[in-house]
Amino acid sequence: MNKLVFKKVNSLSFAKEIYEISIDPVSLKFSKNTKKFSFSSHLKWLKKIISSKKNNIFLFKKHRKIIGFIILKKKIKFYYLSWAINPKLRGFSYGKKMLRSFIKRHPRKYIAEIKDNNYISKKLCLKCGFKFLKKRKKYNVYSTN
Ligand SMILES: CC(C)(COP(=O)(O)OP(=O)(O)OC[C@H]1O[C@@H](n2cnc3c(N)ncnc32)[C@H](O)[C@@H]1OP(=O)(O)O)[C@@H](O)C(=O)NCCC(=O)NCCS
Repeated sequence: MNKLVFKKVNSLSFAKEIYEISIDPVSLKFSKNTKKFSFSSHLKWLKKIISSKKNNIFLFKKHRKIIGFIILKKKIKFYYLSWAINPKLRGFSYGKKMLRSFIKRHPRKYIAEIKDNNYISKKLCLKCGFKFLKKRKKYNVYSTN
């Protein structure tokens, strides 16, 4: 049976897969930086995360397939969380499975800043234990507690 597992990114082995998911038009539309970026700038960004003590990426995998990923940014009192699912696998409840199991395994205070027009992510995080906190410009801010 192919189990769904999390893998903390600590090398560039999956750089290409993370890049492909990140530059998908829908992922770009809903991320802070909406401009398409090159693979080399992606590598720089990834290396920085790998060497950082505050930031991490967790891959959500099934066998060798990357289902999606979660990005974690540590702040003093909470963690920023953002996520994406492989475009070919969206709409199959993987987003819910990924976010729910991640929060269950790592119960902490998480904050997610989601663009107002990102209805699927807004719905997703409410289903996974986040509560609406406030609006900040074009973002809706959600918190796990
Ligand atoms: C947001 C995202 C992670 C959702 O992943 P997913 O695996 O497709 O989501 P799920 O299948 O678990 O669905 C979650 C909920 O959204 C609903 N949903 C999913 N796709 C939908 C669609 N195209 N239209 C309407 N509702 C949809 C599901 O029905 C489900 O709600 P339900 O439990 O009431 O049925 C994925 O769309 C994605 O990667 N988007 C781009 C990146 C992004 O927006 N990141 C967030 C930045 S913080």
